Amino acid sequence: MVEISEFKDFQGVYQVMESGQRSLATVNLAPGKKVYDELLIKFKDEELRTWNPFRSKLAAALLNGLEELPIKEGDQILYLGAASGTTSSHISDIVGRKGRVYCVEFSPRAIRDLLTVCEYRKNMLPILADARFPDRYSPLCGLVDLIYCDIAQPDQSKILLDNAFTYLKPKGKIMMAIKARSIDVTKPPAEIFKNEIEFLEENGFIITQKIRLEPYTADHIFILGSLK
Ligand SMILES: C[S@@+](CC[C@H](N)C(=O)[O-])C[C@H]1O[C@@H](n2cnc3c(N)ncnc32)[C@H](O)[C@@H]1O
Repeated sequence: MVEISEFKDFQGVYQVMESGQRSLATVNLAPGKKVYDELLIKFKDEELRTWNPFRSKLAAALLNGLEELPIKEGDQILYLGAASGTTSSHISDIVGRKGRVYCVEFSPRAIRDLLTVCEYRKNMLPILADARFPDRYSPLCGLVDLIYCDIAQPDQSKILLDNAFTYLKPKGKIMMAIKARSIDVTKPPAEIFKNEIEFLEENGFIITQKIRLEPYTADHIFILGSLK
């Protein structure tokens, strides 16, 4: 049996319990359509899409105790490393038709799949670009409430910083998944996470929460913060 309830006070996010397994769900902006292998479930007058924490680091962070979800209806989001749209499509569900998700991705293969998703999700804008050069997409992207960064690159904190100084509103938030092995395979993950957080703090960010993502994803930390 499937049990569905609201998830904390996070607008547009539901908890799904099935056979003792916990996952999340969002209200499908495009009823009848799936983005990956999620399930579609009828709930009251809505259709929910299950949100798999093994496929999405944001879902994993929420289930592991993220205290704030700074994404609400109508928000403008800049998503760095959108890949084929798994997590960004759930963000698209939450921000709804009045919101917008600018999806930056530099892999032509991934953006091909993303384009299919953006065709029927009009609040997602695909941008084929390297996030290292934020000025290159300034004709397409406006100021945003949140920057979400999941690009698994050694210099991803610097990339986030450069995008934040270009696009983040003064009270805007940041979220980033840091994969230890993408930064340095020779150092212990805890040391890498500490260095990345110090770098962000020295460059004008306040980090309000850090969450490990086990058992969903190994050797990752998820951070939430804002510009000072
Ligand atoms: C871990 S995957 C992202 C998964 C995705 N965030 C999700 O949860 O659905 C990282 C993605 O970042 C992209 N990427 C890496 N470096 C990039 C860069 N400099 N600019 C744009 N995209 C980049 C990769 O091509 C890859 O698709």
